[in-house]
Amino acid sequence: MDGGMDIRTQRLVRFVGVQKTYDGEHLVVKNLDLDIRKGEFVTLLGPSGSGKTTTLMMLAGFEVPTHGEIFIADRPIKNMPPHKRDIGMVFQNYALFPHLTIEENVAFPLTVRGTAKAEVTERVRNALRMIKLENLAHRRPGQLSGGQQQRVALARALVFNPQMVLMDEPLGALDKRLREHMQLEIKQLHEQMGITVVYVTHDQGEALTMSDRIAVFNDGIVQQIDKPDALYERPVNSLVANFIGENNVLSGTVETIEQGFCRVALASGGSVVAQAVNVQGPGAATALSVRPERIVIVPDGAATDLANRLPATVQDTIYLGDHALAVLKVAGNGEFMVKLPPGAHAGLGHGQAVSIAFRPEDCRALDPV
Ligand SMILES: Nc1ncnc2c1ncn2[C@@H]1O[C@H](COP(=O)(O)OP(=O)(O)O)[C@@H](O)[C@H]1O
Ligand SMILES: [Mg+2]
Repeated sequence: MDGGMDIRTQRLVRFVGVQKTYDGEHLVVKNLDLDIRKGEFVTLLGPSGSGKTTTLMMLAGFEVPTHGEIFIADRPIKNMPPHKRDIGMVFQNYALFPHLTIEENVAFPLTVRGTAKAEVTERVRNALRMIKLENLAHRRPGQLSGGQQQRVALARALVFNPQMVLMDEPLGALDKRLREHMQLEIKQLHEQMGITVVYVTHDQGEALTMSDRIAVFNDGIVQQIDKPDALYERPVNSLVANFIGENNVLSGTVETIEQGFCRVALASGGSVVAQAVNVQGPGAATALSVRPERIVIVPDGAATDLANRLPATVQDTIYLGDHALAVLKVAGNGEFMVKLPPGAHAGLGHGQAVSIAFRPEDCRALDPV
């Protein structure tokens, strides 16, 4: 992908050892190292209060890091005021000027920059065309739907052609259908314009849909920064495994480790072979992580060539149209989920004894929960 190009010419943003406290005691961003490449769509994902907005505000220049340094294009930005950073912003609550028309709202970043009138007209027209709201140019925000207002906020953030746009939960106020539509629209705009986007959300589905890379935040610490598929397939700890997608957890104790795999004794008896991803060593507690689609149900008594096999009891089945889920009790976990092809749930009834099986490669031994 980088075609041998110098990484320094590609990197647009760099956080180095950034910390932030508001009260002088509690660090809300603990030690952030994060590089963002030019043209990349990076999402800060995490639960409420994990430090996402604070991180975005430090990049925008509305908050100052307590320690560490932020660079844009290899220049420290400590003393660069927000309007010099060439950044567009979109917030959850749109923050449009209610007394201005749509056209005037979108023109605002240009007029404050003293752009010539003819150029303002031209750029505003292009921006409104881009978000398909040319015919509503003379309305006021109050006369638009939530989705339309958010598109105006987007146009306003992009109209002055900034090098980067920051978005903080921009779709949080919209209903699910519109949110999913807007996710695709923003993603397409990003692809067309090649602009760098730093996006904040607490919605993992949204992050997976839109991002080139995702930084998973928890309690002021980035747990993992990776591509969406890597976060899902190769989480480095239990927190990420549980935050991204559906995860099955089995608790146990490491018995042996050999060539990257470990044998784990389950508390309820029996054992499993797993990838030794994040375990301390023999005798240490671990939480095994297995995704629902990596497990098969084996009828009781039937054979399987998958190395891990455990007894299970059917609790429930859930029909979901394109697939079904079996909820099982496995090794004391009563909410163990197995994804089934459509129709395959029909033969399973509550209380039925079956086996589940999965490969060691599809099971990750992580830190205990
Ligand atoms: N201006 C502020 N003054 C004091 N504390 C703040 C301020 N902004 C955020 N915090 C606190 O910092 C922590 C992180 O907040 P925030 O960055 O908004 O998280 P997120 O966007 O992930 O929900 C929270 O505990 C929050 O209460
Ligand atoms: Mg926030």
